[in-house]
Amino acid sequence: MNEGSFGRRISFDIQAHCAFPGQLGVIMEISPVSLKILTVLRQSGTDVSGEALCRDLAISRAAVWKHIQVLRGLGYKIESATHRGYRLSESANYPYPWEIEPLLNTQCFGREIQFREVLDSTNLLAGEAAKNNAPEGFCVIADRQLRGRGRLQRRWFSPAGKNLYLSLILRPSVLPAAISQISLVAALAGARVLDRELPESKVEIKWPNDLLVDGKKAAGILCESSSELDRVHYAAVGIGVNVNLEEVSLPCDLQGLVNSIRLAGGREASRPRLTANLLNTFEPLYQHWLQNGLADLLPELERFSALIQREVEITTVRGTIEGRVLGISSDGGLRVKPGNRTEEEIIYCGDTRLLA
Ligand code: BTN
Repeated sequence: MNEGSFGRRISFDIQAHCAFPGQLGVIMEISPVSLKILTVLRQSGTDVSGEALCRDLAISRAAVWKHIQVLRGLGYKIESATHRGYRLSESANYPYPWEIEPLLNTQCFGREIQFREVLDSTNLLAGEAAKNNAPEGFCVIADRQLRGRGRLQRRWFSPAGKNLYLSLILRPSVLPAAISQISLVAALAGARVLDRELPESKVEIKWPNDLLVDGKKAAGILCESSSELDRVHYAAVGIGVNVNLEEVSLPCDLQGLVNSIRLAGGREASRPRLTANLLNTFEPLYQHWLQNGLADLLPELERFSALIQREVEITTVRGTIEGRVLGISSDGGLRVKPGNRTEEEIIYCGDTRLLA
């Protein structure tokens, strides 16, 4: 779908409003009637006559046609032929709330999803929503980000129609010092999802927040929070996953360095299904972490780790350390034995680079 097509269609049927002025884009929602038509077409799997749709929904033929146009504008491929009616030939591969919600088995994560075609950054909007009392589990998803953010002021390449850009609001009752552990819990959820999705590939977590597929970055986590001395107000956990990104659409500086589910698996992946899998996997891990901390999750985190027993260089605010990674500590730090010392050191914040 080309950019801007939402805008033209939106005026008819999609209810659009902007809850947080100043942000780009509009909230995309589908009307109950359009959704009903979509459901009927999907369930039938074959041609459905316009007449049947008019009768079942108690609307005119012209209204049916307009709803079909709205659905097409949203990316659903719907064929129509005289005397045969309408047939859904291909679903829209967009992480729309109405596609994700039926696939969720969560209590709280993703139970409220705000989807926008374009945003500066989902983390930015999630942070604003959190300040406006959005509940835990509230999710912001965009199809495209104009200023996708990575850690350490890096940018996150966020083209339209390809990937997943999601930010989730959490309100954990933990001390602010523990908040960075959420990145690891989210990374573990992401690793489980990618591992299931790509059984032929090697999925790894590069502490603290990178997810690698066959050695190349395929996803990243950016956890931003607001807290007082002894209380966390909220954390906005931003997750970016390269889903259907192709090599040709990469800017020069990223070519050869990043991976995607499509590149590794050789076929297009469903963005709504992947989003639901991620939320379904993350929620129980988060609940477990809230109750028990990281300790039980360490063996799996270490199993997925790209750094374990490897020589690394870690850049921290206090300088650069070289050493061998021994593991992850129960409070989320990286256990390193620097080359020139006998005792281990625990690093809580830094950028890691494999040396050998
Ligand atoms: C990193 O690897 O440095 C973290 C990348 C995080 C990217 C995601 S995409 C959704 C959310 N919105 C952002 O602006 N960033 C995060």
